[in-house]
Order: sequence, then structure tokens, then C-alpha cells
Amino acid sequence: MFERLSLSSAEETEATGRRLAQIIFAAVPDSLCIYLHGELGAGKTTFARGFLRGCGHTGRVPSPTYTLVEPYDCGAYQVFHMDLYRIQDGAELEFLGISDMWYTRSIQLIEWPERGAGGLTDADLQVFLKVIPQGRSCELRAGTPAGENILQQWPV
Ligand SMILES: Nc1ncnc2c1ncn2[C@@H]1O[C@H](COP(=O)(O)OP(=O)(O)OP(=O)(O)O)[C@@H](O)[C@H]1O
Ligand SMILES: [Mg+2]
Repeated sequence: MFERLSLSSAEETEATGRRLAQIIFAAVPDSLCIYLHGELGAGKTTFARGFLRGCGHTGRVPSPTYTLVEPYDCGAYQVFHMDLYRIQDGAELEFLGISDMWYTRSIQLIEWPERGAGGLTDADLQVFLKVIPQGRSCELRAGTPAGENILQQWPV
């Protein structure tokens, strides 16, 4: 199952992230892992910023480029926004305390997941962002039944 969207501005990218968070909060899954794919500048952090707004976070959403992980306390969920661009392989993720994250009720938003291959759980949802002349294309794909359940509720 997948959804394909065309986003003509950064505001639309944010709004899409926000909508996804709202659906997830309404569906109350246990925990959820979301991979954000796309080249440099494709809009992954912009999407994550909107997502965190949809989770009720009102403060800053800095890019985790240097910290690698930014945690947010969003009521029902701990949200972990990660950027693994600077990671060489999945084994380095141990130092981020990533295995502890699975024990809390959490949502993980992971930029550059391919860099953490071998150290991450499979994605429930994958977001593919691409630069196109009109802005960005965005494809949402489900990878598990939990992800399917979320996408089924995407408004048409
Ligand atoms: N739909 C869109 N149309 C036009 N510009 C957009 C759109 N979505 C995001 N942008 C812009 O793209 C730029 C890069 O966005 P962003 O930092 O989110 O990319 P990124 O994928 O996280 O990059 P990186 O891989 O470096 O972390 C920003 O200036 C943002 O405003
Ligand atoms: Mg980014």
C-alpha cells in the first residue's frame, strides 16, 4: 500500500508530516519506526519538523546532523528524530543507546536509515522524498501491518 503526493512548498512538506503524526496519534500504535529517504536537501528534516508539530511539540526542531539523535517528550510517545548521515555502519548505533529506545513507547523518525543498516528495526512506514521541478514528490509506503493500518486512514 502506498500514497503518492506532490508538494509544491516547504509548508506543504511540513503539513504532510503533521497530518501523518495526527493519524498516528489517533491510531495509538505501540511504537512505530519511520524511515525518511531522500538525497541531501530533499526535505526530510522539514517533514520531521511538521511531524513533531503534529505531535504537539511547539519548540525548535533542529536538524540532528551533529547530535545524531534529538529526543522529544510528546505525551503518549517519546519521539526520537535521528540523522544517521555521519554514521559509517549499523554497529556504531550502539553508542547512541538505540537499543534502549525500543523499550519505551516511541516513534522513531530516521533520516539516512541506509547508513544504519544492520542496527535498525524494520520500518513500519517509509517516506521517499524527491526533488522535482514543481517542488518535491513524496511517497508513503507501509512495511508492516501497523504501517498499513496508518496508511489506510490517510485522507483521500
Ligand atoms: N515541497 C518543497 N518544495 C520546495 N522546497 C522544499 C519543499 N520541502 C522542503 N523544501 C526545502 O528544501 C530545503 C532542504 O530541506 P531539509 O533540510 O528538510 O532537507 P533534508 O532532506 O533534511 O536534507 P539533509 O539530507 O541535508 O538532512 C529547505 O530549504 C526546505 O525549506
Ligand atoms: Mg535533514
